[in-house]
Amino acid sequence: MRDSLIRDISLAPDGERKLDWARRFMPILQYIEKDFQASRPLRDWPLLLCLHLEAKTGLLALALQAAGADVTIVASNPLSTQDDVVAALVKKGIRAFAWHGATMDEYFHHIRRGLDYRPRIIVDDGADVICLLHRDFPELLPNIQGACEETTTGVSRIRALAQEKRLAFPVIAVNDALMKYLFDNRYGTGQSVWDGIIRSTNLLIAGKKVVVAGYGWCGKGVAKRAQALGAQVIVTEIDPVKACEAVMDGYAVMEMTEAAAAGDFFITVTGNIDVIRKEHLERMKDGAVLANAGHFDVEISKPDLLALASSVRLVRPHVEEYRFADSRKIYLLAEGRLVNLAAADGHPIEVMDTSFALQALSVRHIAENAKQSSGIYPVPEALDYAVAGLRLKTWDVSIDVLNETQKHYLQSWNE
Ligand code: NAI
Repeated sequence: MRDSLIRDISLAPDGERKLDWARRFMPILQYIEKDFQASRPLRDWPLLLCLHLEAKTGLLALALQAAGADVTIVASNPLSTQDDVVAALVKKGIRAFAWHGATMDEYFHHIRRGLDYRPRIIVDDGADVICLLHRDFPELLPNIQGACEETTTGVSRIRALAQEKRLAFPVIAVNDALMKYLFDNRYGTGQSVWDGIIRSTNLLIAGKKVVVAGYGWCGKGVAKRAQALGAQVIVTEIDPVKACEAVMDGYAVMEMTEAAAAGDFFITVTGNIDVIRKEHLERMKDGAVLANAGHFDVEISKPDLLALASSVRLVRPHVEEYRFADSRKIYLLAEGRLVNLAAADGHPIEVMDTSFALQALSVRHIAENAKQSSGIYPVPEALDYAVAGLRLKTWDVSIDVLNETQKHYLQSWNE
């Protein structure tokens, strides 16, 4: 066992079974891993992975290890860590600093321990490592060749760093690849958010009023799946274009103050702060269920919930009951953290096969391109399309190819 801080190494056999199950449904990542095993493009590269630590992530870590990297893993969220998977990875020679339910102090201590191994490549989810490095570890910055960022909120934090001209190395915005956000954010979040809500509440969705705050890529998926479950969907937005899209997709659109009084379920997925706050909580029905799917637990104001509550108790795993002075009870799922990761297993495995294939290829791209200056880069188009091709191949779907006449026609102006 390498230098690690984990809950319990004896949980490894359970984690191993979870890895085996996920591996069966991640053929693209397995294909890349085989290629990495042969070419060892990351031989001896110290690499720090800060992701939701469950089985799919475990397989990404193993693929990068097969490429020769010296892999350390830390959590990107204290509630999404699965201790058995972490134990299985440590048994396989991966260094880990993480346990489920870490306090905020422990969470950042784990990240700092990961940084002790002077990573040269970072894979981040939400940009906690990248932001901490820039704030507290400037001496480590020259050592870093590049990073990959997994999610929308992380990319927007890194953009803010770049705007202040402080970003010290190149970062690939994996989130912004077509094969990422069109599938992971939309279909992955769409399904897994309902998985988390249904697992934790055991409630019926059909016939209920579901309020989705934010009609971005994740919100579109959450709304679509709610509709498919028979709910009446209400969308709240701050962007007029997104609001138009939601109306034309068939949903009611209104301000949160109005939606607050109508909804049975509320899902925030905006990447913003205080989307549900005091004035909304005051209008909600008795029994309303609140869940967040945005990256940080700031979208539903927990300080406002606490200020209004006369008592709080856990009524089921992942379900906290806030009892208000007027005797209404409001239920908060998964402490307002990403409900699909804290109260379920995150995105479906096949979706993460694609997202992590992009991550693995982007990491190799960073290792092979030492001269890139600092800044935010897209996933190279060729890699995005290579992953799309592999995805189709796994589904046994073939598509048409442009012939010469068609290519010529598409490139000419005077036909
Ligand atoms: P996006 O940028 O496509 O969509 C966010 C939407 O929220 C935008 O349309 C924006 O106008 C809207 N919005 C912002 N403030 C609002 C407010 N106060 N009220 C209503 N709408 C508001 O972003 P995307 O990709 O949908 O991601 C959203 C969040 O979900 C991010 O924090 C991202 O990191 C996270 N995420 C979570 C995943 C999960 O597994 N739960 C997976 C992928 C992303």
